[in-house]
Amino acid sequence: MAKRLLAVLLAGVMTLSLAACGGAGGAAPAQEAAPAAAAADAAAGAAGGDLSSKKVGVCIYQFSDNFMTLFRTELESYLISLGFAKENITIQDGANDQGTQSNQIDAFIADGVDVLIINPVNSSSAATITDKVVGAGIPLVYINREPDADEEKRWADNDWNVTYVGCDARQSGTMQGEIIGDLGLDALDFNKNGKVDYIMIEGDPENVDAQYRTEFSVKALTDAGFEVNCLTDQVGNWDQAQGQQLVANALSQYGNDIEVVFCNNDAMALGALQAIEAAGRKVGTDIYLVGVDALTEVVEDVIAGSITGTVFNDHVSQSHSAADAAANYLKGTKNEHYIGCDYVKVTTENAQAILDSLK
Ligand code: GAL
Repeated sequence: MAKRLLAVLLAGVMTLSLAACGGAGGAAPAQEAAPAAAAADAAAGAAGGDLSSKKVGVCIYQFSDNFMTLFRTELESYLISLGFAKENITIQDGANDQGTQSNQIDAFIADGVDVLIINPVNSSSAATITDKVVGAGIPLVYINREPDADEEKRWADNDWNVTYVGCDARQSGTMQGEIIGDLGLDALDFNKNGKVDYIMIEGDPENVDAQYRTEFSVKALTDAGFEVNCLTDQVGNWDQAQGQQLVANALSQYGNDIEVVFCNNDAMALGALQAIEAAGRKVGTDIYLVGVDALTEVVEDVIAGSITGTVFNDHVSQSHSAADAAANYLKGTKNEHYIGCDYVKVTTENAQAILDSLK
C-alpha cells in the first residue's frame, strides 16, 4: 500500500510543488521520503531480530483527533513491519492534557523504554520533555507538533539524539489559498464587492500548524492580487463539533456575505459542511470550503463537489519517517534534527487518485 501511495503522491508533488514554491519554507522534498522508507525496509531486514526486544513508548496528544488516529495506526503497523514486537509498543492517550502526558512520559522512563515518540500536548513543553528524556539517556522523536527553533537548536548544539518529524504548515496554508485563488474572482465574489469575503476556523492556537495555515492561506490570496475581507476568525480546536457550531453561528450572522470558509483541518471542514448544508447553502454554487488532512470522507466530498478541496497531510510518510528515525537511533545511527515531508493539494482533478492510493 505504502509504495503505491508514494508513487501516486510523488507524481502529484512534482507537479504541484511548482505551483506552491512560495510557501514551501523549510520543508524537505517529499522525494526523500520514498528512498527513506525503502531503505528502512532493507535496513530492517539487515537488522534481523535486533529491534524485536526494543520497547517503544508513543505519546499521542489526544486519541480522539481524527488525523492523529490515522497517524498512530500507521505508525504502529509500520513499526511492526520494521521488526518491533507489537507487545513492546505502548501508545498512550494524553487526553489533550500536558500534565497527563508528562506523567505518561515519567512512567515510560521508569519502565525503561528504549525510545520515545512524542506528539506533545503543548509544543511549549518540549524543552522540559527533552531535558527529562535526554537525561534518562533515551532517544526521542517528536512528531506532528513542532517545538520552536530555540528548542531544535539545542538538539543540534548538544548533538542529542532528538529529532522532529513533520511537514511545514506554511505549505498547507499556501495550498489552501491557491485552491481558492485558482477559482478566480468572478467565481468567488458572489456579493460583487470586489473582495474575497471569508471566515477562518482555526485549530489549537498554540500550535504552529494553526498559526501558519491561518496566515498563509490568506497570504496566498493577497499574493495573487486578491483583496480579502475577514468576517470572523474563530478557534475550533481541530474538532468537528466545534467547527459545525462556529460556522453555523457565522452563517447566521453574516449570511450570504460568506464566500469562503477556510478550516485549518478536515475534521472542522466536515463540521462546516454540516452547518453549510443546514443553512441551505451549497458548496461550489454559493460558497466554497477548504480543509487540510485529506481524511477519506473529505476526499470523497471533494470528488462529490461538496467540499472544494483539501491538502493531503501525509501521515504515511510522517509515521514511517518517525519509525525509521527511532530504529536508526536504536541501531546507533544519527538522524537529521528535522525530517520533513511535502503536503499535496487535493482538488477534483486528483482526488480519486489520492483516495485510491489511501485504500
Ligand atoms: C495537524 C492536523 C490536524 C490535527 C493537528 C493536531 O497537523 O492537520 O488535523 O491533527 O495536527 O496537532
